[in-house]
Amino acid sequence: MKLSVIGAGYVGLTTAACLAQVGHDVFCSESDLEKLSKLQSGVMPLFEPHLEKVIRTGREASNLHFGSTEDGISWGDAIFICVGTPPLANGEADLSAIESVARMIAKRASGYKLIVEKSTVPVQTGAQLRRHLAVHSTDSLHYDVASNPEFLREGTSVDDFLHPDRIVIGVESERAAELLRAIYKPIIEQKFTCPVHNDCPKRQEPTFLVTDTGSAELIKHASNSFLAMKISFINMVADLCEAVGADVAQVAEGMGLDPRIGPAFLNPGIGFGGFCFPKDVQAFIRIAQKSGCDFSLLREVEKINQLRVERLIEKVRNELWVMRGKKIAVWGLAFKPNTDDVRFAPSIALVKALLQEGAIIKAYDPKAMEKAKAVLPDLEYCSDPYQASHGADAIVIVTEWDEFRRMDWTLVRSLVDRPLIIDGRNMLSIAQLTESGFHYVSVGRPSVSPNERGQHRVEAKVGAQGESLPLDDAQEQVLARRRKK
Ligand code: UGA
Repeated sequence: MKLSVIGAGYVGLTTAACLAQVGHDVFCSESDLEKLSKLQSGVMPLFEPHLEKVIRTGREASNLHFGSTEDGISWGDAIFICVGTPPLANGEADLSAIESVARMIAKRASGYKLIVEKSTVPVQTGAQLRRHLAVHSTDSLHYDVASNPEFLREGTSVDDFLHPDRIVIGVESERAAELLRAIYKPIIEQKFTCPVHNDCPKRQEPTFLVTDTGSAELIKHASNSFLAMKISFINMVADLCEAVGADVAQVAEGMGLDPRIGPAFLNPGIGFGGFCFPKDVQAFIRIAQKSGCDFSLLREVEKINQLRVERLIEKVRNELWVMRGKKIAVWGLAFKPNTDDVRFAPSIALVKALLQEGAIIKAYDPKAMEKAKAVLPDLEYCSDPYQASHGADAIVIVTEWDEFRRMDWTLVRSLVDRPLIIDGRNMLSIAQLTESGFHYVSVGRPSVSPNERGQHRVEAKVGAQGESLPLDDAQEQVLARRRKK
């Protein structure tokens, strides 16, 4: 089927590439000319695992094309609108990009078009779109408007698109439902060449849920808000664990064993970020407010999340006392691993606050440094986590990249000035870190120093030429405490 996707962000690009992968002839439009020219010459404008390969496959098979919005509108029998809906100052979603696409469709399209809203939008947007098209379109255009919310996570979006748990469509006509069922048939039946897995293990057929448009729109916002609520909930449990000396990892494990709760999204830390949760929670609060419902529960979710960065900074302050002049290695800048996205990333607020207090920051992220440089110009970017740790008074982990699990801790220990790790993602093992000689502070779990465990030695530091280096004050104190024991 000929399909159009308007907007080449994470959602649009993944949608276009994956729909081409399962056999459709897809035209993806982008209004940002620099981005468009990159895509037309095979250059990726963003990092997303597997996406480059899927796009290349589509371009080589000539069933994935990139071009202007005007051309996209005339191309497809169905048009997926995947443009951005950024937050306005009052928290509402800015729908101007959707409105402008709708106006273009009304002006330029003719014959029958299925117009699918895939951008995350407030409930009633489908109804508004229908009204807008009715006012502005000519008699030659016949259309249905459907909602098809996406549940793609950055970092696993290709996998999520091709192997979803559910496909939700909100429609007002049988024709729209049948068209969408036909579009998604290869995915519903899991019959396509999988670009992610050689021997694809996930071949479970997803649920294809048909609802009215308003309900589909709500499913998306309600799902994201619920997941955000789970994160804020476990973050508060983590604070309570710190207050009473319990371990949040054990509490979360125990809670997650109840199938009504489930183990996912119970990882406490520096809070949720990215371009979805923070803005979707805000938008959902505004939608509820405008509809006369007091969803103050979500206001608390938001408030708890906003305080997470400050809470982590407090841990840094507790350890370092005076921040001015202290060298801090920040590991991870992306809002989550496997993406280069730093939009609403907790790293931004954290780094800005640390700089404000006079700390000297050396940062490393495997993918997000280019994008981070635009928002955080005043720090030293390093080529690996070891370089960032050189001479550090503390290492602060902000993003749980896998490579941070496989560090040579003896080497890290020899590079830092003070063996202190503040883990904002609870990604490391307390035992391993303390055994490697670090004072390890995480979230909702006991903070442990090697000397407190009574079984570790502070090694003399060794320089690059193998020479012994003097121990710093903190190390001397650790040794002195141990000698007393
Ligand atoms: C989220 C949803 O998970 C997707 O289903 C949805 O389609 C997408 O938003 C969207 O609306 O487009 P995404 O923002 O890519 O996906 O990332 P998540 O994996 O959901 O993580 C969001 C944030 O929550 C991250 O900052 C992550 O670090 C944080 N998080 C997640 C936690 O702090 N704890 C957890 O247990 C899980």
